[in-house]
Amino acid sequence: GAPWIAHRDGELFVEDCRVNALADEHGTPLYVYSRNAMRAAAAAYQQALAGRPHLVCYAIKANSSLAVLQTFAEAGCGFDIVSGGELARVLAAGGDASKVVFSGVGKTRAEMRQALQAGVRCFNVESEAELDVLSDVAAALGTRAPVSLRVNPDVDAKTHPYISTGLKGNKFGIAHGQALAAYRHAASLPGLQVVGIDCHIGSQITETAPYLDALDRVLDLVEAVEQAGIPIRHVDVGGGLGITYTDEQPPAAGTLIGLLLERLDARGHGHRELLFEPGRSLVGNAGVLVTEVLVLKPGDKRFCIVDAAMNDLMRPAMYEAYMGIVPCRPRSDAAQVWDVVGPVCESGDWLGRDRELAVAPGDRLAVLSCGAYAMSMASNYNTRPRGAEVMVDGSRAAVIRERERVQDLFAGERLVAG
Ligand code: LLP
Repeated sequence: GAPWIAHRDGELFVEDCRVNALADEHGTPLYVYSRNAMRAAAAAYQQALAGRPHLVCYAIKANSSLAVLQTFAEAGCGFDIVSGGELARVLAAGGDASKVVFSGVGKTRAEMRQALQAGVRCFNVESEAELDVLSDVAAALGTRAPVSLRVNPDVDAKTHPYISTGLKGNKFGIAHGQALAAYRHAASLPGLQVVGIDCHIGSQITETAPYLDALDRVLDLVEAVEQAGIPIRHVDVGGGLGITYTDEQPPAAGTLIGLLLERLDARGHGHRELLFEPGRSLVGNAGVLVTEVLVLKPGDKRFCIVDAAMNDLMRPAMYEAYMGIVPCRPRSDAAQVWDVVGPVCESGDWLGRDRELAVAPGDRLAVLSCGAYAMSMASNYNTRPRGAEVMVDGSRAAVIRERERVQDLFAGERLVAG
């Protein structure tokens, strides 16, 4: 785990704040983040890229809370967005639209207009049809949309099928074989300006080889496209770098970047601006979800029922993802094996299976690695208000999102008249 989040003197700390004290004050379920862990993760990318033209665009889908975006904006990062809503968040957090790349297979015309008017740095276009629509929208506004084509390099990222995106069978990107034609088409349209190329091959990637293979495939295309007279300014290698949930050993960002730069240099592309779109590796291990044990149900199968559920944390139910679970104040009693489950009415509502824990009702548990794809994927299923979020910076802790209130959940609903 991250050094920012660790047990000291029999208590779990996030930086210099005792997690149990935060739960006493703010209740549970509670998300707690380490601001310095986020800063350190961004710095690892930036330091490895120092002296090179680059932009690290935080993929905000991983955790789109305003104070998280603010933290990365202050660190000099750009942002990777996939909706008009995410663009509004970036602006509300004080982010700079000129550092925003807009990804996604299905952008609406309204979202295209919104992004053009805000002045985003570039659109990552995922199909030929999208080129035509975007050109139309830009021309109608009397401007040209900066575009980068997301190509599908057809490499195996060797990760969970739901989060692997760079293979032929995926809905993402323009097939490698059609990319040159798509670039010619883009260059011929009045409302577009070609500025770059990009790819994103998947998420929670723990090896460097798929990245190097994808880079090679992308550079082949860059050379072909430039030969056709269309200059390419930046190369965006996407996000996807994995983190340690249990025993995974992903390369450090600096190691991966070192290898990518070597490959770029060896192929004579060292001058190019490099963009990254990391999400999980910037925030994943910077947060925990704190939950309270409600009841224990021993028996053939032993259940530890807690107050956080699949609506708070979808990853186990959706991907059978393993998330570490630790007590906030470890007991000296003998540990027993428990399935840690939530109160939602679904058998898929579990947070951890067969975990060895010494627990009693009222204890707090922390689910680890909950900085990414946790709160941002939370829902209100079972009319459960989403929990609060706290950002820790040293010994200071600030509420960055209030706990939802039940009445807010149905504030927009109406009974039928008559
Ligand atoms: N760029 C694009 C175009 C993406 O689609 C994604 C993630 C990223 C960047 C950031 O990838 P990262 O560095 O976070 O791996 N909900 C899943 C992960 C879905 C990832 C979707 N795309 C999970 O909880 O594992």
